[in-house]
Amino acid sequence: MNLLVRELSKAFGGFHVLDRVSFSFETDGLLGIIGPNGAGKSTLFSVLSGFISADRGSILLGERAIDRLSPQERAQLGLVRTFQVPREFHHLTVRENLMAAAPHQPGERLIPLFLAPARVRAAERAVRERADEVIAFLRLEAVADLPAGRLSGGQKKLLELGRALLTEPRLVLLDEPFAGVNAVLVGEVIERIAALHARGIGFLIIEHDLGSLARLVPRLLVMDRGRVIAEGEPRAVLNDRAVRAAYLGQTTP
Ligand SMILES: Nc1ncnc2c1ncn2[C@@H]1O[C@H](COP(=O)(O)OP(=O)(O)O)[C@@H](O)[C@H]1O
Ligand SMILES: [Mg+2]
Repeated sequence: MNLLVRELSKAFGGFHVLDRVSFSFETDGLLGIIGPNGAGKSTLFSVLSGFISADRGSILLGERAIDRLSPQERAQLGLVRTFQVPREFHHLTVRENLMAAAPHQPGERLIPLFLAPARVRAAERAVRERADEVIAFLRLEAVADLPAGRLSGGQKKLLELGRALLTEPRLVLLDEPFAGVNAVLVGEVIERIAALHARGIGFLIIEHDLGSLARLVPRLLVMDRGRVIAEGEPRAVLNDRAVRAAYLGQTTP
């Protein structure tokens, strides 16, 4: 399936945060998104995932225009994002956080709760099993019963990825999955993403750690001041004049 982004624009108070952003992406692929701070990368993810709406432009997922769908409706179509700053429930355990991320829980509705408690219990058990699978896959067993607020920065990033996985996604938008993660854990996160990709899940990945990103993705899209200024194979893109100019005065790269 194809994600087709056409001429997306978004302004905040007259300031163009996204300026006619266009690109096309096969949803089972891997694409890195880079660019200086303030380039509009996180805003692009907010628009793609439905947390904010664009002023202009369109987003097609396969044949379907998804511009007007809510984040939940987009998640049902397989498109989910993670946040640059993890949004876990601090007081819930890791397992509870994962279970809360699962869609369609009949126990959330009052009537099924009264009418068919056995069915609700069975559904809860299924969600719990799914959460435990994700815990094992992300190797979070040792912290599964801890409040999420006690996790390290890297473990919180893994939990964010896990919450996305509970929705059984087709395409995951990862916002800085390596930021604040120690080097050993970055290696693990890369390996987990590669394993998910091998199972057919696609990723768009915003990341400042270009060395790590280049190990994972065959293509990069570069944004600067709301625009796409380059796209292509990492080495060519990083040698591009406009890309180098955009990064002048920045610490990375
Ligand atoms: N909700 C908002 N209201 C006003 N300005 C915003 C909002 N979100 C982001 N911005 C501004 O948009 C620009 C791009 O931000 P962002 O998308 O977070 O960039 P990046 O993720 O590339 O660092 C920044 O100048 C930021 O201050
Ligand atoms: Mg950002």
